[in-house]
Amino acid sequence: MDWGMKNRLSKIIKPDNGKALMLAVDHGYFLGPTSGLEDAEKTIAPLLPYTDSLMLTRGILRTSVCPEDAANVPIVLRVSGGNSVLDEDLSNEDITVGIKDAIKLNIAAMALSIYVGSGYQHKTLVNLAKLIDLGEEYGIPVLAVTAVGKNMARDERYLSLSCRIAAELGAHIVKTYYCDHFDQVVKKCPIPIVIAGGKKIEELAALELTYKAIHDGAVGVDMGRNIFQADSPVAMIQAVRTIVHEGNSVKKAYALYHSLKKEKKT
Ligand code: R5P
Repeated sequence: MDWGMKNRLSKIIKPDNGKALMLAVDHGYFLGPTSGLEDAEKTIAPLLPYTDSLMLTRGILRTSVCPEDAANVPIVLRVSGGNSVLDEDLSNEDITVGIKDAIKLNIAAMALSIYVGSGYQHKTLVNLAKLIDLGEEYGIPVLAVTAVGKNMARDERYLSLSCRIAAELGAHIVKTYYCDHFDQVVKKCPIPIVIAGGKKIEELAALELTYKAIHDGAVGVDMGRNIFQADSPVAMIQAVRTIVHEGNSVKKAYALYHSLKKEKKT
């Protein structure tokens, strides 16, 4: 692996323990003003000190993140899109950022969604391959996001298929969902896996999900709604962090969440 590629990857996956806490706030690229991100600047700023990296679009990066505040926060730039929640088939995405602008933004990685089994499967997989070619040329890792189409089951078979295809095409990290027998998905995927949190669930359940994913072999989380839509996002990101980086138990992480939440209110 080239020096630049290795160096950028080590900003996302910490070399000392091989773990990664990524904060995902890219939802607006097809969902518009997602709940909790209406005022993105206000939501993101207090979370910055606790995340290893930040995943978002260039629009929100430029308008809502202070470059000085993010001096030590590697940026994972979402570079796919071109569709909205109003379309029945979300899979019709393309590459939406040029490599020169991505480099100007001093990014650590690029992220693109693939839609295995959906209407535009072929297009999104070829887009991934093209992005990886660019990434290899400039030393920038590519995170493949395994988006799940409406008619797809989020099960071991489907997620193994998606993750493995992403790895075969040359992605450097893959983001997917947790499922039963997740250890089997990990086992069959030769690149590091991070999990998305998915729709907002109870804080305890989100911490359990984090714990199970790490236990089953994920290197970390790329979590959004279960952090920024939590009752106390700052407390939640710190609780998730202790599971990812310190191997904390769910019980301890949940207790920490409550004590930090209380501290903030008093
Ligand atoms: C969706 O395609 C986006 O990449 C989100 O960043 C992703 O779903 C992770 O966010 P959440 O934890 O809210 O699912």
